Amino acid sequence: MDLSLTPSQLEIQKMARDFAQKRVAPMAREMDERGEMPVSLAREMGDLGLLGGSLPKTYGGGQWDAVSLALCYEELGRADSSVRGFMTVHTSLVSQCILTWGTEEQKRQYLPKLARGGWIGCYCLTEPNAGSDAASMESTAIEDGDGFVLSGEKIWITNGGFADLAVVFASRDRSARHKGICAFLVETDTPGFQREKMPGKELGHRASDHAHIRFENCRVPRSALLGEAGGGFKVAMSALDYGRLGVAAGAVGVAQACLDACIEFARTRRQFGQRIGDFEMIQSVIADMAADVDAARLLVYRAAWMKDRGQKVTRETSIAKLFATEAAARAASEAVLLHGGRGYSNEYPVERYYRDIKGLQIYEGTSHIQRIVIARDLIGRES
Ligand code: CAA
Repeated sequence: MDLSLTPSQLEIQKMARDFAQKRVAPMAREMDERGEMPVSLAREMGDLGLLGGSLPKTYGGGQWDAVSLALCYEELGRADSSVRGFMTVHTSLVSQCILTWGTEEQKRQYLPKLARGGWIGCYCLTEPNAGSDAASMESTAIEDGDGFVLSGEKIWITNGGFADLAVVFASRDRSARHKGICAFLVETDTPGFQREKMPGKELGHRASDHAHIRFENCRVPRSALLGEAGGGFKVAMSALDYGRLGVAAGAVGVAQACLDACIEFARTRRQFGQRIGDFEMIQSVIADMAADVDAARLLVYRAAWMKDRGQKVTRETSIAKLFATEAAARAASEAVLLHGGRGYSNEYPVERYYRDIKGLQIYEGTSHIQRIVIARDLIGRES
């Protein structure tokens, strides 16, 4: 077993780390306060090759493996979860989904634009009455002539406010539950595609764009179908296999950032006449955090490595997401405590990590849902 990274993986990791630390980290607090990520940052990511890296060269990509992509998510997550979240939705939920399920024409039409960051993608699954129970969606796709008419609404759609292309799920037969669901590629300037900002202020990920999208008699051609009619649930779930690995890698980044911050603080903060890092209680917190970071990272690498070998990784991805997000939540909670009053204010970034990590435990399937996926895979379904 060889756990070392290849020269090409190390190069991609360095490129992502430089970008994350030099461009993203310095503006993370300001983006959080302003509640948005500059669109220019997305363009920069496109220019650097971050957005298309995982696509084949034929479609303007860099032909990266899954481990390289995970390394990028980790580096971005270490700097800012909103920026990492933007990239995971665009790249893993949209581009990789089109690469897996799209026709050659769809791939040629959309992937080069998505790879460059000229177009931005969003993924429209969640609805007001269909969150964890995705198959119960109420949005409909009614066949009409040579196309479909989409009606319904989607919420919490990351990148939804400025995306150019949406992967949309809607049912052509609600009585068939998941077997009625279809996936579509919808250009967001299609008449009937309406969007507005989600109401309320989010706990974390405040620089992310979260939209409420309505489809009002939104007509799309049959050629917009992604995969087979009625096969949309598999499209949605397989895309989540990609996306969840991205969230898991991002959580490793958050946990690493908490560890970095705690080590620095433990070395410099003095109380009772000594560095707080010389107290065993503080050492114990830092040691447990370091063990969690290593374990989470290895789970992410394992899932990515298996994916690169063409193996099915649904269970391993859910294990990685469950463990990494829970570990990062523990790390963020301990990091705030260890920083004392300073950790309670946005003077130090651990306050943002503590708010952001809650989102990673929820989106792309809550920790409860990951446990369901893992347990069903282990136990099997009764026949
Ligand atoms: N890959 C391919 N197919 C899959 C699959 C996968 N990972 N998981 C399930 N399927 C298939 C099954 O094989 C089954 O197919 P057959 O009928 O041919 O046997 C079919 O899908 C139905 O599977 P289930 O019976 O397991 O479906 P279920 O209704 O019980 O739901 C679930 C399973 C795991 C709970 C699923 O509903 C789920 O993942 N829920 C969470 C949804 C979620 O993550 N939402 C977040 C959306 S994204 C977001 O947060 C916002 C954003 O902007 C990104």
